[in-house]
Amino acid sequence: MSNILETKSILDVLRPVQDPELQKSLVELNMIRNINIVDGQVKFTLVLTTPACPLREFIVEDCQKAVKKLPGVKEVIVDVTAETPQQKAIPDRQGIDRVKNIIAISSGKGGVGKSTVAVNVAVALAQMGAKVGLIDADIYGPNDPTMLGLADAQVMVQQGQSGEVLEPAFNHGVKLVSMAFLIDKDQPVIWRGPMLNGIIRQFLYQVEWGELDYLLVDLPPGTGDAQLTLAQAVPMSGVVIVTTPQTVALLDSRKGLKMFQQLGVSVLGIVENMSYFVPPDMPEKKYDIFGSGGGERTAQELEVPLLGGVPLEMPVREGGDSGIPIVVGDPGSVSAQELRAIAQKIAARVSVAALA
Ligand SMILES: Nc1ncnc2c1ncn2[C@@H]1O[C@H](COP(=O)(O)OP(=O)(O)OP(=O)(O)O)[C@@H](O)[C@H]1O
Ligand SMILES: [Mg+2]
Repeated sequence: MSNILETKSILDVLRPVQDPELQKSLVELNMIRNINIVDGQVKFTLVLTTPACPLREFIVEDCQKAVKKLPGVKEVIVDVTAETPQQKAIPDRQGIDRVKNIIAISSGKGGVGKSTVAVNVAVALAQMGAKVGLIDADIYGPNDPTMLGLADAQVMVQQGQSGEVLEPAFNHGVKLVSMAFLIDKDQPVIWRGPMLNGIIRQFLYQVEWGELDYLLVDLPPGTGDAQLTLAQAVPMSGVVIVTTPQTVALLDSRKGLKMFQQLGVSVLGIVENMSYFVPPDMPEKKYDIFGSGGGERTAQELEVPLLGGVPLEMPVREGGDSGIPIVVGDPGSVSAQELRAIAQKIAARVSVAALA
């Protein structure tokens, strides 16, 4: 019986350790790399499937425990990094070069907080180290530039190899394109369906996105042309449905959810926004302004996960208006914590789908 540590024995003890989200062995997922053993010190790289992995610490701890059981091991050093997997190809859908995952944020009803959720989730993912882009697909009422502090941004149009390409604006770690960059702000916009289709395709394919882990698409409300164009053009990792706990909002979300399912787009989960209100001067109180438990019931009924609930808090609205999203402006607030957790769950679900 030899006490000599070798790469194979390290891999053997790590084989039973699973990624809790993917429920597969870290070794089989090729997440353990660059094993280096010097005088009882074992060092390796753990390559997670998203920089926004919610269980990072647990996985590292599981690895350390497993390797420390081997005789002769004095120290275990785990370098953590991430490589987001590319979503699966879908026949007849044209992916975007170097963009790994496209995620839509949708809702049946207007004003429920899609843009707020999209912007904060995008910024949260970027804060965790992901490369993130955001398309403001709300052609009629583009709000994302304001919410991302880019109300006055100018975007450049350049001559690329295959025609004109847009250089996205950039703030809080997120690249953004929006109709607001291309039109006179005070002019009402009147688009016909085919034009809208063209613009969304331009935002997908004629933008200098560079390398992205996640491209989020903030959709206008409803089940209209923008939803259809998106679902029929690109392969999508999935859609996140935003709703309030209110019955009418939920009825509309169900419709939206069914539409995406019919188009073959998987639903990553439901976000319940404006779940409850906490008065700033009475933080011990909690008011269910739009009812309670609706998101949870809908999620159960439609068998999709509830990704989280974001309270109605004044600083969330203020963050949107001032261009400093709550995850930047007040990262310790309940809303910011919830939005970060939602971002992590979305990232985890996307990894599961890509590696399934
Ligand atoms: N959790 C929240 N707490 C406080 N205010 C919020 C919250 N979520 C959204 N808001 C505010 O509610 C308004 C509507 O939100 P938002 O624009 O994100 O909704 P939307 O679904 O994108 O709307 P639309 O359908 O017009 O695109 C905004 O003023 C926003 O700041
Ligand atoms: Mg919006």
